[in-house]
Amino acid sequence: MALLAQPGTYNLTDYEQTYQSFNFTDYQHAHKKEAVNVAYFAVDQHVKSGLGAKIALHYVNGEEVVSYTFREVKQQVDQLVHVLREREIQVGERVYIFLPKNPTNYFAILAAIKIGAIAVPLFEGFMTDALHERINDSYGKVLITTKNFASRIDFQAVPSVTEVLYEEDLHNLTVEDDYVYWATPETPFLMHYTSGSTGQPKGVIHAHRAYLHHQLSGHWVLDLKPDDIYWCTSHPGWVTGSVYGLFAPWLNAATIVVQAGRFDAKQWYRVIDRLKVTVLYSAPTAFRLLKAAGDVYQSFQLDSLRHVLSVGEPLNPEVITWAKKYLHVRIHDTWWMTETGGHIVVNLPSEVIKPGSMGRPFPGITVKILDDDGNEVPHGTIGQLAVKAPWPGLMQTIWKNKAKFDGYFNDAGYYLSGDLCYQDEDGYIFFSGRVDDMINARGERIGPFEVESALVKHPAVKEAGVIGKPDEVSGEIVKAYITLNDHFVETEDLIDEIKVFVKHQLSFHSAPKEITVLDELPKTQISGKILRRELKQREQLVKLS
Ligand code: WT7
Repeated sequence: MALLAQPGTYNLTDYEQTYQSFNFTDYQHAHKKEAVNVAYFAVDQHVKSGLGAKIALHYVNGEEVVSYTFREVKQQVDQLVHVLREREIQVGERVYIFLPKNPTNYFAILAAIKIGAIAVPLFEGFMTDALHERINDSYGKVLITTKNFASRIDFQAVPSVTEVLYEEDLHNLTVEDDYVYWATPETPFLMHYTSGSTGQPKGVIHAHRAYLHHQLSGHWVLDLKPDDIYWCTSHPGWVTGSVYGLFAPWLNAATIVVQAGRFDAKQWYRVIDRLKVTVLYSAPTAFRLLKAAGDVYQSFQLDSLRHVLSVGEPLNPEVITWAKKYLHVRIHDTWWMTETGGHIVVNLPSEVIKPGSMGRPFPGITVKILDDDGNEVPHGTIGQLAVKAPWPGLMQTIWKNKAKFDGYFNDAGYYLSGDLCYQDEDGYIFFSGRVDDMINARGERIGPFEVESALVKHPAVKEAGVIGKPDEVSGEIVKAYITLNDHFVETEDLIDEIKVFVKHQLSFHSAPKEITVLDELPKTQISGKILRRELKQREQLVKLS
């Protein structure tokens, strides 16, 4: 059952016509600038063009709301620019931003970018090993954090870090440095670590040229207009939180909402009501939790909401139907990845939604569904979603791993996503799964290898195989199969202890929610590699029996 567009004026009104006529090469050419800086375009440019007094950010922290104009944001950023310049941070230097979801986080990311460094935002839930692993991979010297968060890091174990800037010391700064490093479009500005099914997380590097993709998708897909109050619920440590929480909205001079803390149905409805949020970008798990919270929404005025979007994991049709019926909005699914740097498959507010579909290719983007031999499959047949390279948001490389970067592309120059999908006759794309063992829990991408490595550090654990187990609310949960070392006996306490152990090493979201102890794990005969596929099958058999 398709959902028609709601009446209204949208920034992009005719998808088919735009898709036919638009291409990124011409667009990039028309907007060609030798000297660019995403941070400058996101803030300074608006102050210069007379929007200095416009509200840029509402920060909601419990009962308190603190607001900043674009002029105030520029001031805050320029104070941090001064601090960073005093430390003689070089162009291309990695600057870690490990902060809660608060304004300083956004300002620090921009300050790093403004001076030509590479901002590396880190998720606030990361614990010791997850942090050490990432920092030691990219070996940056500056870390911006809080005293509380810093206690999770053993500084002996991250020798590259020689400058730690504590948020507590960054308030009441007085000196501003209105400095801009004029970069080329290919200068790196942002790195997000992301998980694959093998190996430790890798650093996906984005270049300043991505701003065109961010800006245009903010205009067409988020449909941002001057009066919008836009709320993206993701933490800037994830690419959704940086690209669509910061860059896309501010490149479009929209007012953003930043809310401290994680999900709470009542709080979320309250934020929408209090700040009169008009555009909301969140994830299926959050929408499922809102649905599960029942009639809580009735105590709030939500009619300011005019456009709602989702990303990160499959969006169930039932949730779309629920939102339409009770909140009177359509949820627009979007598909992209850390590596793609911006929207690739989208549902636009002016177009028909087919619940269950992630939408159609963004204008300027060519996709194909390929079989194992790299040939295009007919409509309705499942294959791997591939995207014709390049496009402006596409990652520039993988940090210190050109081979890994090259491995993403086939001989015909298509980026291979690892996602299995099919496309219908109208061009709508439907998600069906992954080609590999990557886990997606609550829209967060979790590499089984990273979790397995953490598990075997526990003295009781001999071997570990980690899979995603289907779950009604989270999409998937992290499930571990382990064998125990001699002299260890399976008890409830031991299992809990192992769960907590991983939580303290990696993060709450990647710690196993379930652990099953086996006498032996299934392995390949020759190399002795643990067969996660068989563990997955076992999980399904258990469910059936
Ligand atoms: C993986 C990318 C950058 C977006 C946030 C996640 C899955 C993403 C959807 C969707 C079904 C989705 C894919 C993709 N995914 N969007 N609309 N429907 N699955 O970014 O952490 O890089 O993860 O998330 O499997 O490959 P990410």
